[in-house]
Amino acid sequence: MNSGGGQTASILILLGSARSKGDTAQAAKELRAHLAPGVATLLDLASKVILPFDYEVAGQDDEFGEVANLMIAHRSLVFATPVYWYAMSGLMKTFLDRFSDLLSGRDPMRRGRALAGRDVWLLAAGTDPKLPNGFEVPFASTAQYLGMNWRAGFYVRTGKTPDRRELQLLAGALQSSTAPER
Ligand SMILES: Cc1cc2nc3c(=O)[nH]c(=O)nc-3n(C[C@H](O)[C@H](O)[C@H](O)COP(=O)(O)O)c2cc1C
Repeated sequence: MNSGGGQTASILILLGSARSKGDTAQAAKELRAHLAPGVATLLDLASKVILPFDYEVAGQDDEFGEVANLMIAHRSLVFATPVYWYAMSGLMKTFLDRFSDLLSGRDPMRRGRALAGRDVWLLAAGTDPKLPNGFEVPFASTAQYLGMNWRAGFYVRTGKTPDRRELQLLAGALQSSTAPER
């Protein structure tokens, strides 16, 4: 994998759970294990300082910009979040809110535009049988707003009746979408 030198590296999995060694982390690690070695990078957002969006401060003194640059350096982004109260985790929402800092007017480098063309996928984990209606909308619409390609959402069921089949489907879809063109 090469994330430097202006080249676009392959897959960045952005983990946004309230616990770094929980179910979503486990699913993200399994996803990575299903993929070719070195093709995917797993980034735990909880390991970064990401402050809430602030109307008064365009460039917060935190690590959001570093994560934004990493996203730009990758071809496919997988947002990995648990389902908390029928929605994405608070950490993931805090992270998404900060995308506003990449838009022109707040970012002189206009990095929001640099995200265009990235493929966006969702990996969610929860105990209910299905992902709640509309769960994917913020991810799909944010991707669309920024000119990224919304691909699809996948759901891993945790708890007493686990179902991890969609993990393999996501791995397969990622594998074929990031395969070098012949
Ligand atoms: C605050 C909170 C709210 C939750 N709300 C839901 C929910 O609405 N739907 C659901 O299916 N599971 C819900 N769960 C269960 C988690 O989604 C599930 O246990 C998941 O595997 C946890 O992943 P994690 O270890 O990465 O946090 C909730 C768990 C917590 C802690």
